[in-house]
Amino acid sequence: MCGIVGYTGKRQAAPLLLAGLSKLEYRGYDSAGICIHEGKQLQVAKAKGRLQVLCDQTNNGDAVKGTVGIGHTRWATHGAPSDINSHPHLSCSGKIAVVHNGIIENEGKLRNKLTKLGLQFYSETDTEVVANLVGYYYGETGDFLTAVRQAVARMEGSYALGILCADLPDTIIAVKKDSPLIFGYGEGEYFIASDVPAILKETQTVSYLDEGEMVMFNPERVQFFDANGDELEKKKEHITWELDAAERGGYDHFMLKEIFEQPKALRDTLSPRLKNGEVVLDGIDLSAEYLKDVRKIYLVACGSAYYVSVLAKYIIEKTCRIPTEAVMASEFRYAHPVIDEKNLVIIISQSGETADTLAALREAKRLGARTLAIVNVVGSAIAKAADQTIYTWAGPEIAVATTKAFSTQLAVVYLLAAYMAQQLGTMEPEIYAKWVQELEKLPEMAEKVLSQENVQKIQYYASRYYGHHDAFYIGRNVDSAICLEGSLKLKEVAYLHSEAYPAGELKHGPISLIENGTLVVALATVQPLFDKTMANIREVKARGADVLCVTIEEMKEAAQENADGILTIPQVLPELQPSLSIIPLQLFAYYVALNRGCDVDKPRNLAKSVTVE
Ligand code: F6R
Repeated sequence: MCGIVGYTGKRQAAPLLLAGLSKLEYRGYDSAGICIHEGKQLQVAKAKGRLQVLCDQTNNGDAVKGTVGIGHTRWATHGAPSDINSHPHLSCSGKIAVVHNGIIENEGKLRNKLTKLGLQFYSETDTEVVANLVGYYYGETGDFLTAVRQAVARMEGSYALGILCADLPDTIIAVKKDSPLIFGYGEGEYFIASDVPAILKETQTVSYLDEGEMVMFNPERVQFFDANGDELEKKKEHITWELDAAERGGYDHFMLKEIFEQPKALRDTLSPRLKNGEVVLDGIDLSAEYLKDVRKIYLVACGSAYYVSVLAKYIIEKTCRIPTEAVMASEFRYAHPVIDEKNLVIIISQSGETADTLAALREAKRLGARTLAIVNVVGSAIAKAADQTIYTWAGPEIAVATTKAFSTQLAVVYLLAAYMAQQLGTMEPEIYAKWVQELEKLPEMAEKVLSQENVQKIQYYASRYYGHHDAFYIGRNVDSAICLEGSLKLKEVAYLHSEAYPAGELKHGPISLIENGTLVVALATVQPLFDKTMANIREVKARGADVLCVTIEEMKEAAQENADGILTIPQVLPELQPSLSIIPLQLFAYYVALNRGCDVDKPRNLAKSVTVE
């Protein structure tokens, strides 16, 4: 989705903005632009396509001089990707420049009003409406801050804005509502960004803007305002992400790097919460007293995080014996959920900013439910809005297709399940002890799955199967949930049509699609269901499918009798098996994508965090 960077200080702004925008490329975009304050002019350079086009156009920023500026990468919502629709947008007066993430829902009405006042529009964007609205009030009041306040008061929807005024040579105003925005502190210089990686090289000291907050700043003065317009002090926070965490560090792609970072990410998420044979959740109240009134748990999320929720249903129901339901966040609000204070709603999100997920959380709170969020990005909207938050410590996830965030979300689900089960007395002490032991070993087991020998096997199968047109992922129980994620990875990065079904469901329809050369990826890690899955493999083989099977080492020989290719993972507790079985599926999708010549880190049409509905 769109990205914002802004700078004011003593250095040349354009090269800094371009460098910042390059760190946001991963979020997905179709055009880029910058606006630099030069003399009393606002100089705009913008272009459709990759950031490199803009870099070439501006000689890497050298052609646009000035020490204050705003930059943007756009992911089209209002109007097609084009030079004209790219941000920044100027007001008709040329006095105001705006970059914007989000959607102005009443832009039609505002556009009509402004048109009647004689203002002209050149683009199809809602952002140009913002520029003209601020420009109009600036013309009326002659005061930049007042103009922004008056404009914001009339805007509905979501926005993170960076705004320049031609008459104030070193000043930026930034506003946040339902779209992330951070403020970065340097030495006599300041930054804004929609996402940490954009400014991580320049500063690790930031403040997160809250809903409705505004900041007006120049190198001499920074003023924060709350939603009522009252000045406020903001807490400075230190970002613990290491600088190189947002770099590729020798890997060909962020996706590959992040797949290999999973053992570390799992360790960072799990070990601080496993102490002396116990799961410890500091600052979280999930005591027996708290849980005794919880009638049902809902897990609400989008995409891969939703698939973690599907897995969590199996895991929590088995271990805690509380009815649990996984719901897609985009559907949650509109399904009239029967929810009240006797429900615990667990929200899962890497970015903590996904629009549908945030809206679902707000709806759950409105209905009186208790809420707990599993989030990766510290200080994000979901992390702040939930009653209780548990962070995954995955570090920055740059690749659009999630890998390590998925794994750490699942790890937190394991911690929660074991913890709640122990509180409720639904898990035998020896089983609980075994869970804790195995969770401690999980990072090491993940390392084993990533051995060179395994990776080479996966590369081989990817080169054998990448030309297939259709793939089906089948499995039973937790394997069926992991199939959803494996299949999504293949779709996202390799653009290969792929579906996931519980293996037992195949016969009820989809098997009619199996023919010579269909690829079936079968997961068979749940030992009690192994023979049933083998029977399903035989059914698809009899209809011409090529079958790649992921199973546990102990079952390798039996699986070999049925499948064409085998990938194995170490055996752990059945519920924990998905943490390992997802890894070969991620690698398989990655190598298939490479074989198909796909841009793995920037898959077409996708954005890293989906901040619009
Ligand atoms: C898939 C993927 C998406 C996200 C989804 C939710 O690889 O990354 O499906 O899982 O958009 O995003 P978050 O977790 O940021 O709410």
